[in-house]
Amino acid sequence: MKCCILFASPRKQGNTAALLSPFCDEMKSLGWEIETLDLFSMKLEPCLACRSCQVDHSIFGCPQPDDMQQVFDAVLNCDLIVFATPIYSWYCTPPMKAVLDRLVYGMNKFYGDVKGPSLWSGKTVALITTCGYRPEKGADLFVEGLRRYCKHSQLKYFGMLAERHLGYDVPFMDENKEKNARRFAHDITEYMSNPQ
Ligand SMILES: Cc1cc2nc3c(=O)[nH]c(=O)nc-3n(C[C@H](O)[C@H](O)[C@H](O)COP(=O)(O)O)c2cc1C
Repeated sequence: MKCCILFASPRKQGNTAALLSPFCDEMKSLGWEIETLDLFSMKLEPCLACRSCQVDHSIFGCPQPDDMQQVFDAVLNCDLIVFATPIYSWYCTPPMKAVLDRLVYGMNKFYGDVKGPSLWSGKTVALITTCGYRPEKGADLFVEGLRRYCKHSQLKYFGMLAERHLGYDVPFMDENKEKNARRFAHDITEYMSNPQ
């Protein structure tokens, strides 16, 4: 099975990347094919609400000449989408928000003169995040947003791995966080092997 990781931290060796590392190791050992897109390294403009993407229901259809077609193709090609972001101001970082907006229109052909399908209906979504507050107070608003986003888009929201960053003077990773990341990979794999 294919997993597409949309990674959206500006810190390439930061906390979110550190949490992703054991997760990816474990996923690979469980037989997953992984494609990671580093959103901060890509040219990703915000959605301009022109609705060009609502005309042809079989393609992305966005006229903006940036790297979003690559994101669209990777997402459409995978079984599992992992949104991996630090929490900034109670939500995801800006390139991930741009991707969420571009996909909610580009994938969901709901907004044209004729209502069309969700092109990514039935795919599974998981969230991997790190935040300064306890996750219940740091990641809760983004989780709620993502849950509604998934319901609206006919995606299955699997759940979240969230870990707290206690400060820049405290090492982020420890044995427990690594264990949680590996267990998250196992839990997703089990869930997707026994679809409900
Ligand atoms: C600009 C900025 C905004 C932040 N906003 C929040 C926030 O709203 N809630 C929170 O819990 N942590 C917040 N944090 C802390 C980060 O989520 C945390 O340090 C995270 O682990 C950084 O991950 P990274 O190393 O992958 O970039 C913020 C950090 C920055 C730099």
